[in-house]
Amino acid sequence: MGQLDGKVAVVTGGSRGLGLAMVKALARDGARVMIASRAPASVDQAVAQVQAQGGQAAGMAVDVGALEQVTALAEATIRTFGRLDIWVNNAGTAGPYGATLDFSPETFNQVIQTNIMGTYYGSRVAMSQFIAQGSGKLINLLGAGWNKPVPWQNAYASSKVWIRWFTRALAEETRGSGVGVYAFNPGMVLTELLTDVAVFEDDAKRLERFPMVVRALARPPEIPAAKLAWLASGATDGKTGLEISLVNPLAVTAGFAREGLRALLGRPAPESPVKIRVVKPNRS
Ligand SMILES: NC(=O)c1ccc[n+]([C@@H]2O[C@H](COP(=O)([O-])OP(=O)(O)OC[C@H]3O[C@@H](n4cnc5c(N)ncnc54)[C@H](OP(=O)(O)O)[C@@H]3O)[C@@H](O)[C@H]2O)c1
Repeated sequence: MGQLDGKVAVVTGGSRGLGLAMVKALARDGARVMIASRAPASVDQAVAQVQAQGGQAAGMAVDVGALEQVTALAEATIRTFGRLDIWVNNAGTAGPYGATLDFSPETFNQVIQTNIMGTYYGSRVAMSQFIAQGSGKLINLLGAGWNKPVPWQNAYASSKVWIRWFTRALAEETRGSGVGVYAFNPGMVLTELLTDVAVFEDDAKRLERFPMVVRALARPPEIPAAKLAWLASGATDGKTGLEISLVNPLAVTAGFAREGLRALLGRPAPESPVKIRVVKPNRS
């Protein structure tokens, strides 16, 4: 028996990275999962991977920044699997690294539309179903910026603190409804969000140590994905408003100590998966 047998979950941004690891963890625990990301081919590939491991999944190409597509996602999930129990607002984008004023309004808005409006739309659509049925679990993703400002990552980081307070307030407003509303910060995770980074040319030097930071701190997505599956399970019943952060100060210290020791001993660093693309700012 899996801890999620009989449950149906939606994971936005489930086609790769942390989202795909979450989908696999949920499916392994018995849930049937709807995968939703923009690129249809990668959605199809993700569905095939889950099915190959014996899980049940379906997929839909969705831009979470469009309310009508998010509404259609909920409808398709219920049509396909007959119910809706878990909704993970995981889709997220960082935008380029660099000064806030170097972002064009369009580039800034792409981050806001995905991270903020996508979370709002997903929460709105899932909660209307959950409140009506008196059960369900909504999980929103935090990240860098959730507890302090992060210069040069302002669009992304400020979206994450918005998600934090939005999620807390929603939990408070719906307390006693039988629905659980949770926030989840996975810590640094080895995904394309970290390994395919665009930086504005004026700020490229600021990222010189980034590959070392990723080596020191990033963990495989399977670790936070297992915690997410727990958060989605009956273990958190009655604990709405719960905020789980996997950022561990001890692990941070240990990671940097490991990298420091390597440098001290003159040992070569392993090849970094991090690719940094220098791009022109698009201020207009
Ligand atoms: N990686 C980390 O270190 C880290 C740390 C803390 C928090 N997080 C959070 O974890 C979540 C997942 O990040 P990740 O690292 O797995 O990123 P990722 O590897 O870049 O994957 C992002 C996923 O979201 C989808 N996506 C992006 N924009 C979308 C949109 N508008 N509509 C629908 N789907 C969209 C992508 O597919 P398409 O491009 O095909 O749409 C992809 O499936 C994000 O919320 C991120 O903020 C990550």
